[in-house]
Amino acid sequence: MRSFYRGRDMGRVHSIAELTELARHRLPHFAWEYLSGGSEDELTLARNRASFSEIHLHSRALVPCHPPVILRHLLGRELAAPMLIGPTGYNGMLHRDADLHLARAATARGVPFCLSTVSNVSMEVIKAHVPEVDLWFQLYAMRDPDIQASLLSRAQQVGVETLLLTSDAMVLGNREWDRRNFIRPRELSLGNKLDVLRHPRWLHQVMWPNGLPSMGNLEPYLPPAERNALGSMKFIGEQMDTLLDWGMLARLRDQWSGNLLLKGVLHPSDAERALALGLDGVVVSNHGGRQLEGAIGSLDALRLIAPVVKGKMALLLDSGIRRGSDIAKALALGADAVLLGRTTLYGVAVAAEQGAGRALDLLREELTRTLNLMGCTDIQDLDPDCLADLHSHFTGRG
Ligand code: FNR
Repeated sequence: MRSFYRGRDMGRVHSIAELTELARHRLPHFAWEYLSGGSEDELTLARNRASFSEIHLHSRALVPCHPPVILRHLLGRELAAPMLIGPTGYNGMLHRDADLHLARAATARGVPFCLSTVSNVSMEVIKAHVPEVDLWFQLYAMRDPDIQASLLSRAQQVGVETLLLTSDAMVLGNREWDRRNFIRPRELSLGNKLDVLRHPRWLHQVMWPNGLPSMGNLEPYLPPAERNALGSMKFIGEQMDTLLDWGMLARLRDQWSGNLLLKGVLHPSDAERALALGLDGVVVSNHGGRQLEGAIGSLDALRLIAPVVKGKMALLLDSGIRRGSDIAKALALGADAVLLGRTTLYGVAVAAEQGAGRALDLLREELTRTLNLMGCTDIQDLDPDCLADLHSHFTGRG
C-alpha cells in the first residue's frame, strides 16, 4: 500500500479503515500510538466500537428513494450534516499546521471545527486563515483564573459561539505506550529515534525546519525563551486544574454568555446536573478510550442519558464513530450530532486538508446511503424504532 496520498488520489480511499491503515504506514511508531492508542488494556477503546456492532438497523420497505435530508439545526446554526470535527490536542505531530487543515476541511463541508486548548495553531491564526470557520473552542480549566479569563476573552473575540469544557482529563489516563516511547519528556527512546529516521516524509512534513511545534493558544502566557514544544508541555502540565468541580462550572456559566457544553459526561445524573446549571448541552464521551480504562462505552452511556435530557439541551456523542451507519445509530438513540476524533485525524495524517476532507466525505456518503437503504428520508425521523436491539438489556426507548 502506498504510504502517501496526494489530494487527487484521495478518491481511491474507500473507508475510514483504509485511511487508518494509510496513516499507520505514514507515521512513525510513537506518533501512531499517540493517535490510535487508548489507556491500559484498551477495553474501553474496544467497547466504543463493539457497542455500535451490537445494535442493528431496522429498515422499512418500499420507501421511495430520494436524497435524504441530513441538515441539522444545532445551537443556533445549520450544519450540513450531523457531525463536526472534535477537539484534539497536538495535531501538529501528525502534519504541520494540521489544525488549519482540519478547519479548512470542516468549513468547506459546512460543519463546525472545535479547537483544543492544547492545539498547535492558535485560535487567532485559525480565524485569520479560515474566516468562515464555525469555530468552537474546547477549554481545559486553568489553575490561574487570569489565564482562563484571557483564553475565554480571546475565544469571544475570534467569534467562538460554543465552548466545550472537558471534564474527563483532570489527570492523564494511563497510556503505557507513552511511557515506553519516551525516556523523558520529548526525548524518544533509541528504538523510536531509529524508527523516525525510517520516516523521512514525516520528518519533512512535521519536523522540518523547526522541530515539533509549541501550543499556539498558550504562547502568550509563556516566557519568550519557552515558546516551544517543551515549554508549552511543561506549562500545561502545571496549569491544568485538577480540582475542577460543579462550582467552577457554575462560575463558568456566569462568565461565558455563549453556548456552554460539558464534554466527558457518561452518567445521567451528571447530564441532569448540567441541565440544571443552565448548560446548553453535553457531549457524551469517554475521550475515545484514552482516559478512564473500563469506562462505559459512549453509545451505552447515550442510551442512559438520552431519556433524561433529550430535547431539553443539545445532546452530542463521540468515541468510536468510524462509519456513516454509526452516526445513524447514535442519532436513533438520541444524539443530535456526533464529534469526530481519530477519524479526521487519520485523514489529516495521510493528506492534510484533502485527507480530512475525504474522511468527512466518506462519512457523509455512508450516512446518506444508510438512510436510503433504511427507508428513512430525514434524520429527524431517526428514533429507537429504527433499531433492532438484539443483545442488550436496555430498551433504548424514551
Ligand atoms: C483527543 N481528545 C481530546 N479531547 C479534548 O477535550 N481535548 C483534547 O485536547 C483532546 N486531545 C485528543 C488527542 C487525540 C490524539 C485524540 C485521539 C483524542 C478526545 C477527543 O476529543 C474525542 O473525545 C475522542 O477522540 C473521540 O473518540 P474517537 O472518535 O477518536 O474514537
